[in-house]
Amino acid sequence: MDEPTPAGQVDGQKRSLPKRTLLIVLAVVVAIVAVIPLVVAFTPRINALWPYGRPYYESWARDRHRATASTCLHCHLEPGLRGIVTYPMTFWGGLLSDASGDALGLPSTAFPSDRACMRSGCHTTNRLTSPSGDLRVDHGAHAEEGIRCITCHPGAGHDGADGRYMRPPMEACAECHQDEMGDCRYCHVGRSLPTEPGTP
Ligand code: HEC
Ligand code: HEC
Ligand code: HEC
Ligand code: HEC
Repeated sequence: MDEPTPAGQVDGQKRSLPKRTLLIVLAVVVAIVAVIPLVVAFTPRINALWPYGRPYYESWARDRHRATASTCLHCHLEPGLRGIVTYPMTFWGGLLSDASGDALGLPSTAFPSDRACMRSGCHTTNRLTSPSGDLRVDHGAHAEEGIRCITCHPGAGHDGADGRYMRPPMEACAECHQDEMGDCRYCHVGRSLPTEPGTP
């Protein structure tokens, strides 16, 4: 084994110092990149500081979902590991596109997926009619066709924000069911079938 020369030792120390500094800098960067999005994520109120975010914060704050979906991420984050890994990217990506004037979105949001709606303790597709039983709308059948919850319930969590509705109006069905719209009983269960659309 070669005896290290004094010059070699000094070289070694010089090399290890920047390496340690680099590691510390890297750790700090990782912490900032991951921690800031998480703080925003778990503090819904921060979103009210954005002019664009305020109506979404306020509508969430008075929505019935709030009791269970107590952070924005309950809905806006894909459940599981993938969501946690992709969240900081969504966050910083959104912020960058905001800064560049590309889009005026909130950095912490992505469209809620069906999997988010169906977190355990939340929803299932086990629903054949409206709660009153007057309207046929087989949730499982639509899910099998790949029709997402938010297609029909874009206002869930934000009733009133941006004019998005929670309970789909008849026009929302007509988009796909033009051919059935004349056949009232396709959707309306006889019991209290109104005679004309628009009749109270
Ligand atoms: C109960 C579920 C739920 C919760 C909780 C929730 N949201 Fe939403 N959010 C939705 C749904 C559903 C949409 C509509 C998606 C669509 O239009 O297709 C939406 C849309 C949005 C949009 C519009 C996205 C766009 O690009 O049009 C923003 C911004 C938003 N939410 C912010 C928030 C913020 C901020 C919070 C927390 C204070 C929050 N949301 C909590 C379900 C939720
Ligand atoms: C094809 C459109 C459509 C799709 C897709 C859809 N729904 Fe619905 N959903 C409805 C209609 C219509 C009602 C009845 C609303 C009413 O009573 O006016 C309803 C009612 C509900 C209700 C009861 C709301 C209440 O008033 O108590 C829940 C909960 C619900 N849906 C959850 C979901 C979830 C979760 C998904 C995705 C797995 C989903 N829906 C997908 C149309 C849809
Ligand atoms: C994005 C497209 C789309 C929208 C919006 C939509 N549907 Fe459907 N619906 C389908 C498809 C696809 C099927 C299955 C194919 C078929 O039976 O025609 C279906 C089937 C149905 C069926 C028959 C299910 C069965 O058991 O045979 C009913 C009832 C129905 N939809 C009600 C509704 C109501 C009520 C709304 C509005 C709240 C609605 N749909 C909105 C696409 C849609
Ligand atoms: C594809 C499904 C579908 C068909 C077909 C359909 N409706 Fe509807 N209808 C709905 C939905 C969804 C609503 C809104 C939810 C509710 O009010 O229960 C609705 C609501 C209504 C209302 C309440 C007021 C309004 O406009 O929101 C009337 C009246 C009505 N329908 C009459 C009819 C008549 C008459 C026919 C046949 C000519 C018909 N509908 C066919 C899905 C349908």
